[in-house]
Amino acid sequence: MPTFRSDLSSIPRYVPGRTLDEVVREFGLASISQLASNEWPNRPFPEVVDAIASAAVHLNRYPDNSTHEIRHAIAAFHGVAPEAVWVGSGSSDLIRSTALSVGGPATSAVFADPSFILYPITTTISGAESIRVPLAAGYRHDLDRMLDAIRADTTLVYVCSPNNPTGGHLAGHEVRAFLDDVSEAVVVIVDEAYAEFVTAADHDSVVKEAPARSNVLVLRTFSKIYGLAGLRIGYGIGNPDLIANLHRTQAPFAVTTVAQVGALEALKHQDRVKERALANAEGREFLTAALFERGFDPAESQANFVYFEPAFSSRQLADDLMAKGVIVRRLGAGLRVTVGTPTENAQFVETLDELLATR
Ligand SMILES: Cc1ncc(COP(=O)(O)O)c(C=O)c1O
Repeated sequence: MPTFRSDLSSIPRYVPGRTLDEVVREFGLASISQLASNEWPNRPFPEVVDAIASAAVHLNRYPDNSTHEIRHAIAAFHGVAPEAVWVGSGSSDLIRSTALSVGGPATSAVFADPSFILYPITTTISGAESIRVPLAAGYRHDLDRMLDAIRADTTLVYVCSPNNPTGGHLAGHEVRAFLDDVSEAVVVIVDEAYAEFVTAADHDSVVKEAPARSNVLVLRTFSKIYGLAGLRIGYGIGNPDLIANLHRTQAPFAVTTVAQVGALEALKHQDRVKERALANAEGREFLTAALFERGFDPAESQANFVYFEPAFSSRQLADDLMAKGVIVRRLGAGLRVTVGTPTENAQFVETLDELLATR
């Protein structure tokens, strides 16, 4: 029996949403709505697929470890220096590297609960302790309590806006005030994986000003609105000195050649990104209204998903939906439904109606 680290079994497993193939195999269904993983429901931009196909012939070579071209393109897009951009194999890669670079035994990390399930996982992997601060009324980050929760041994704080799984966002001034109050000895990750979906007028990302702060890393990803979840590429923006230190724990060649090339092309199509944000907002409103009409109380969402806590078993509802071909995500007492295509959204509502009629 090999010797594993003594706390290995305490690392929570990341359980991904069920894949289409799994559900088709298990239930033998023809029409499935895959609304469990907050992915974009349609294919990537065709130009991106072409760019990836053309780059594939170079895969005998290692990727550019410095991610030069895509880093410069992201820097130009946000109006920051290329040294202020850190590219990873998905933003999860940057979360993990940050946790490993600042965490470890006798340290702690503060985050909201519920929030992105990777935060406690990476905290435990790093050997640090998780400090969970429950969301306040209306599923909002309780920034005052999060500030109070920071201890002398805390090295990392996560602020997720919009928050996964509940979807609510923080106004720019709220995030700024929080960052002003946190000691520079503590790294703050502002996770903006869903920022491009926000349509609320008071949303104001701190991405451009992050490099001027010594301890702030703002995360974005190509997995969501750009529709490239399978490509694995995301980025962080922060102070160049901070990034130079954080990136020490990142695996070499973490970002593949096709990921770099695909993201470079995707970034050029901001007109279509904006169209997607509008289409998503329509779907989000449709799902939210449908849930209210059926007596549920969904959280106000600015992301590409809607969260609600049914008064009855969330597990039963998720299982019953799945058996009828609608895959949603159950998280504790809540269900998170990703905005799909209009057909998928309608299938969710129709299936929900069928199930409610039999209760
Ligand atoms: C809040 C949040 N951050 C980060 C990620 C990671 O995304 P990726 O690693 O695909 O960039 C996700 C994915 O679901 C997320 O919900």
